Amino acid sequence: MEKTDKPRGDYLDVLLNKMKSAAAPFRDVLRDLHTKYQTLNEGNVATYIPELAKANPDWFGLSVVTADGQVFDIGDAQQTFTIQSVSKPFVFGLALEEHGREKVLTKVGVEPTGEAFNSILLDEASNRPFNPMVNAGAIATADLINGKDFPERLERLLRMFGKYCGRDVFIDNGVFLSERATGHRNRAMGHLMLNFGMVSNRVEETLELYFQQCSILVNSHDLAVMGATLANGGINPITHERAIPSAFVKDLLASMLSCGMYDYAGEWAYRVGIPAKSGVAGGLVGVIPGQMGVGVFSPRLDAKGNTVRGIKVFQELSERFGLHVFESGFQGESLRQLLQPKRSDESHG
Ligand code: DON
Repeated sequence: MEKTDKPRGDYLDVLLNKMKSAAAPFRDVLRDLHTKYQTLNEGNVATYIPELAKANPDWFGLSVVTADGQVFDIGDAQQTFTIQSVSKPFVFGLALEEHGREKVLTKVGVEPTGEAFNSILLDEASNRPFNPMVNAGAIATADLINGKDFPERLERLLRMFGKYCGRDVFIDNGVFLSERATGHRNRAMGHLMLNFGMVSNRVEETLELYFQQCSILVNSHDLAVMGATLANGGINPITHERAIPSAFVKDLLASMLSCGMYDYAGEWAYRVGIPAKSGVAGGLVGVIPGQMGVGVFSPRLDAKGNTVRGIKVFQELSERFGLHVFESGFQGESLRQLLQPKRSDESHG
């Protein structure tokens, strides 16, 4: 499909894509994957923010949206949860759009830490946090969001997420209050960065903004649309609205690939090779450039804070369809073919 800045999704387009994806064999692939990992009960729901502990560990949503707008939603794809750290690359994108690459990179680096997401580790040599995907870097990135006051900054942030999701987004107030009440480590990190001159002195306001950004409600379908928007050069393939200038898409994807899975990032880049970002509520978004966005929601996390079932699903998709970004000469099953509706006279299997 041609990439246009058409302001709204065309209903006929949406309908045709619905019919196409309803009849595409890829739906069965996803159903089978979902069934396979529904019974995987390793890992635990995050409890360090009390509100997150209320999640049902069995929730499992799996969604794929292609760069030309086909939609596949399996399982609990409508179950909402808070976006948490999955928000980080998108806010990085907004900062890039507002200030340009050069300025943003003076405030936050792009170097993986090899440390946990909440590590109090700062790059003293360059006087900035290491990257936008860990908490310190995400707080420094939130500091860059413009606006004359807090409501205006928040409004800008929510509007940006709205473009990616193709709908208005809302905040889970219970989670936000819980984050704020227990976010001593983030607060300490914000103040430490203020002490070093890494963030501006509106640090309390910026922390509020960061807690709000983490508390935005999404579902696995939204994550897949957000991923598909990046896969489609920054234009939401359902609404045809631009969410980010195309020039910055690669900034987000590179940072996701090198830092998106925290201290599992290197292993992930090696084994899965899909730019991705996880969050402690159990969300995981992945982007296959030019092809599709994948969203998984399953709140059982491993020791590093990544969703266990999400990792399995991505590993399997990557291996089976050769989706690693550095894959060459892949001889296996063709994903493109599985996305074509099967004709009624065709038999599969
Ligand atoms: O900063 C925090 O503690 C959370 N609100 C966000 C952390 C998060 O999702 C890290 N992810 N794995």
